[in-house]
Amino acid sequence: MDSILISGANRGIGLELARQFAAGGWHVLATARKPDEAEELAALGSNIEILELEVDNEASIAALKETLKGRPIDVLFANAGITGDLKAMAGDVTREDFLKVQAVNGFAPFALARALRENVLAGERKVVAAMSSLMSSVTANDWGTQYTYRASKTALNASWVALAEAWRPLGLTCVLIRPGMVATRMTNFTGIRAEDSVAGMKSVIEGLTPADAGRIIGYDGLDVPW
Ligand SMILES: NC(=O)c1ccc[n+]([C@@H]2O[C@H](COP(=O)([O-])OP(=O)(O)OC[C@H]3O[C@@H](n4cnc5c(N)ncnc54)[C@H](OP(=O)(O)O)[C@@H]3O)[C@@H](O)[C@H]2O)c1
Repeated sequence: MDSILISGANRGIGLELARQFAAGGWHVLATARKPDEAEELAALGSNIEILELEVDNEASIAALKETLKGRPIDVLFANAGITGDLKAMAGDVTREDFLKVQAVNGFAPFALARALRENVLAGERKVVAAMSSLMSSVTANDWGTQYTYRASKTALNASWVALAEAWRPLGLTCVLIRPGMVATRMTNFTGIRAEDSVAGMKSVIEGLTPADAGRIIGYDGLDVPW
């Protein structure tokens, strides 16, 4: 049975990823900060295993690594993320908010990937994915705004491409995925349905080959500009 680890799977896109991969016969390692409160995940059935993870805490990542020691994982999907203050004008962006979002969106996926590298190496598919965004794109940014969030996802992209190059010789495929603008709490429930975004991303993930390492791919299968 294929397996996928999804961070931030208790709500939003992560929950829908868990739902669709489980329904597709995958074993889902679904992480949540508070597993006891992840009722919707728990209701998804027997293909779901709920694990505790606060991604912005290296001790929590180390504990997850220990829990999963020796277990192969086919796909690691670093999905958990935050926006920070999206509406802050340049003069209002705070160092604290900027660095917090960098820590969660930029550093944490990288820390999670390196912690679980051996698990993915032991899997069949050997995919290491992270949730990026069109907001990561420098060349597509012709309307400004969202300084903090954009910078965090651009940083994520940069470290992921570096990982893709470093880990390609090991047979690992590191990719970035763009979900589109999806109706979740993050977007005040504006955008496309999570069901549709995730159906597209699932198809992209299931079709990945080593030649895709280093790409940023949309839920529609199209490359996102850097
Ligand atoms: N929605 C969109 O339109 C859109 C577009 C582009 C990219 N994305 C990206 O897609 C991913 C999921 O977004 P979403 O729309 O599903 O957002 P969401 O509904 O706000 O869900 C975010 C998820 O991340 C978890 N999370 C946040 N900080 C965490 C931390 N420090 N440790 C562990 N888990 C943490 C949340 O857990 P809690 O419930 O415990 O807070 C929740 O499960 C994010 O990376 C986001 O940047 C979303």
